[in-house]
Amino acid sequence: MTPGQALTQTRQELRLPSFRTAMVAGSSERIQRALTEFAAACGCTYACRYQSRELLEAELSGAEFQLTVQARSIPADGSGTLALPAEDAMQSEVVITGTPLDGRSVEGVLDDVVKFLHREASAYTEDDLDQIVENMPLLKRYAQPDAAWNSWALIFRDHYVENSVGFLLACERAGLAPEWIYALSKGDRTAHRERVHATFLERGYRSAVLDNSVIDGTAGESMQQQALLVGAEVNAFIRLAHQAGRRVLVIDDGGLIAQGRATGGTGWERIDGAIELTVSGLRRISRTNVEVPVVNMARSQLKTHIAYAEIADSCLRRVRSLLHGQKFIGRRAVCLGFGTLGARIARGLRASGVRAVVVDTDPLALIRAAEEGFETARGLRAALEREAPFLITGSTGAQAVTPEDLTSLPNGVFLAGFATKDFSLFSLNTEDLPARKIAETGTEYVLPHGGSVILLGDGRSLNLYEAEGIPNQGYDAYRAGTYLVATAMCRTAKDLPPGVHLQAADQIIEDAGLFDAYYDTYIATDTTDRCGVMSLGADYV
Ligand SMILES: NC(=O)c1ccc[n+]([C@@H]2O[C@H](COP(=O)([O-])OP(=O)(O)OC[C@H]3O[C@@H](n4cnc5c(N)ncnc54)[C@H](O)[C@@H]3O)[C@@H](O)[C@H]2O)c1
Repeated sequence: MTPGQALTQTRQELRLPSFRTAMVAGSSERIQRALTEFAAACGCTYACRYQSRELLEAELSGAEFQLTVQARSIPADGSGTLALPAEDAMQSEVVITGTPLDGRSVEGVLDDVVKFLHREASAYTEDDLDQIVENMPLLKRYAQPDAAWNSWALIFRDHYVENSVGFLLACERAGLAPEWIYALSKGDRTAHRERVHATFLERGYRSAVLDNSVIDGTAGESMQQQALLVGAEVNAFIRLAHQAGRRVLVIDDGGLIAQGRATGGTGWERIDGAIELTVSGLRRISRTNVEVPVVNMARSQLKTHIAYAEIADSCLRRVRSLLHGQKFIGRRAVCLGFGTLGARIARGLRASGVRAVVVDTDPLALIRAAEEGFETARGLRAALEREAPFLITGSTGAQAVTPEDLTSLPNGVFLAGFATKDFSLFSLNTEDLPARKIAETGTEYVLPHGGSVILLGDGRSLNLYEAEGIPNQGYDAYRAGTYLVATAMCRTAKDLPPGVHLQAADQIIEDAGLFDAYYDTYIATDTTDRCGVMSLGADYV
């Protein structure tokens, strides 16, 4: 018996109460609604009273437990959303105390209540949703009621972040009924994933996780089983939509359709059109015999020139926040990959005073890097022979550290992966290295020759590890462009020939004048806005 189990047993024998705490978005009224539902779901009695307008106290009694819940409404601290909290926005501090009856453990039911509260009471409030919409003005401008959406159903697989919420709200505004939206999370540990999931369910969408590891073939047994269940649900959704006379559009961040019937596979029911958002997904799809039109957003002008700058910025900010105790200026880093993302990472690090060495397998990429003034090397080991870096970044999309590299890695180096495969040697621990989790930071792996390295985050895209990634304004144009392409697909998918359409997105975005709108909205802001802000300040004085 572990010390923890012994303590739990002693508490049960002495009938000592146990407790949990939780911080839940919204006022205590939301807690009350969620507790009423919890009581109904588990068949226990429920009574609640307000001690004051801010303090709720509730009792839940079942055959095996007695719970007291205290919830205090306090001003929101802004941690639950990307926006500044509205003046009257509230969140609730909750303490749940459980007394065991008949010597039974209450630990499980306490955990259940916390999970239930996070699921049922954590959806974004109407104020939060308004802020998301307002912070994506281009998407707001373009997403107007449009009959083209009326005959479609949408499967949207991406990260569970606020700009994904903004995107699906835009589809709703266009006329897509909530029951015809199936949202799938790629499985990254984004900061507000629970809130996003709760919001989708509350709005009437279907929502589940379809982990990217299943798509890229690195999933373990249980993840694959879960994916099979979700896959069956998604297939049922596609069949239902077709029976209702709707066509099905997939917007995917990672090549989901490469596994389906639309590409000659056996996985997914045939869909009617797709928009692919990632380079790796595009690669997967191009290896198949695709039988439906797929529009490429991954290599669109919009993604390359506008979205990638924001992605790189979010990657760099995440590294800085996780390594806030480290000196950066003057130190050496190795940047694996000098492609669309990696070049921006290397430049960003250099701009903050880091001496970045670029490694790439493509000689042209090395030439570009060298001619921009970077030190370069053809391989990781060659780069490590010169001087030990404190940081290695990965933006290749390939296994960038191999077992042969292990003996060259310097002790204590931090590994920041922005593509899942780069440091998969560690995240999948294929070499069985002794490992130690470091809370909130990552995992330390002991190297075969002694010393250790620290993989930041969970080895997946670090900018999305317990973080939101890109600010809503930063992805506004990209989401607006995706919306424009999706609307065009709803109008014309039946006329588009099967296959990957590389240029279509650029044309649609140009025709809609999105770059002009972007420039006017974010770059050429006129002085009337500034006067607005100044006069607001003056009112307060
Ligand atoms: N974290 C995020 O939010 C995010 C966003 C966009 C892209 N990505 C991922 O980043 C990866 C790179 O995307 P990109 O658009 O820059 O692709 P890219 O093709 O433009 O760049 C990849 C670069 O890596 C180089 N490379 C390939 N294998 C290598 C190896 N073993 N060692 C060193 N260099 C190698 C290539 O030659 C190329 O220059 C992809 O996997 C993509 O999915 C992540």
